[in-house]
Amino acid sequence: MKYKTSVKNWEGLAQNDALWSILTDKSKKGEKWNPEDFFKSGQTEVDAAMDILLKNNVEVSKKDVAIDFGCGAGRLSRALTNHFDKVIGVDASETMVDIARKGNEDLKESLSFELNEKGDLSFLPSKSVSFALSFIVLQHIPFPQSLGFVSEFVRVLEKDGIAMFQVPVLDVRKLSSWQRFKSFVRIKERLALIGIGKGFQMDMHILTEDQIKEVVVAQNGRIEKSFFSNQTLPDYNGDLKVYPTETEACGYISKIFVIRKN
Ligand SMILES: C[S@@+](CC[C@H](N)C(=O)[O-])C[C@H]1O[C@@H](n2cnc3c(N)ncnc32)[C@H](O)[C@@H]1O
Repeated sequence: MKYKTSVKNWEGLAQNDALWSILTDKSKKGEKWNPEDFFKSGQTEVDAAMDILLKNNVEVSKKDVAIDFGCGAGRLSRALTNHFDKVIGVDASETMVDIARKGNEDLKESLSFELNEKGDLSFLPSKSVSFALSFIVLQHIPFPQSLGFVSEFVRVLEKDGIAMFQVPVLDVRKLSSWQRFKSFVRIKERLALIGIGKGFQMDMHILTEDQIKEVVVAQNGRIEKSFFSNQTLPDYNGDLKVYPTETEACGYISKIFVIRKN
């Protein structure tokens, strides 16, 4: 899928059932997400992410500006305001950005949203951000823009800033026929769930660890930690789990990378 098509798809998904296209819990299909529960899941997820950093001795020393790339309705952006002075949510879908602005008006002093349909973050100056977060987003962006965004996260970080993002690093459906069969069934279920029949798709894309390392180093950053995660599960609902060893989630190996800018 081309980059522009993938952006259009997300606008379609947002118009169709925005909150559910973000967290595809079966029981919430048809605009059944209660906004309170939806935003609560963001708080739980961001708190879990911060706890993972703390427990693994990753110091987040700068707390000025955080970006939430692929912010959707601002589920995680809102929760980030408890940890950073200023938060900017960035999304390519106009409808998502509208929903995010309306749903988070109470925090407008510290939280803003930016529509960015471009395949880069050129609206942000280099070294202007303390923390960049992106969960369940890069997996839906085609290559090479997906990798380009990883490079952009590191470019915009100030010295000692942290980028924490998740991406699938391996498609295990290609490995064995049993795994292929298992994930075929689950992926069909997911595609049916997300309204593929209505003409909008949620493609999955992987990036390899080597690709990530190369662009991170080129932007003067380093991979400080990485964790396997459950974020490619079809009904992922913000209940973030990390594992020390490779763990298959719906045919993919999902990983969180923690990058520090030198
Ligand atoms: C599964 S949702 C996740 C939303 C949010 N990260 C969360 O966890 O609540 C994926 C989001 O990425 C956005 N997105 C997709 N492609 C994008 C792109 N190229 N640039 C910015 N956002 C994008 C979609 O519009 C959608 O809001």
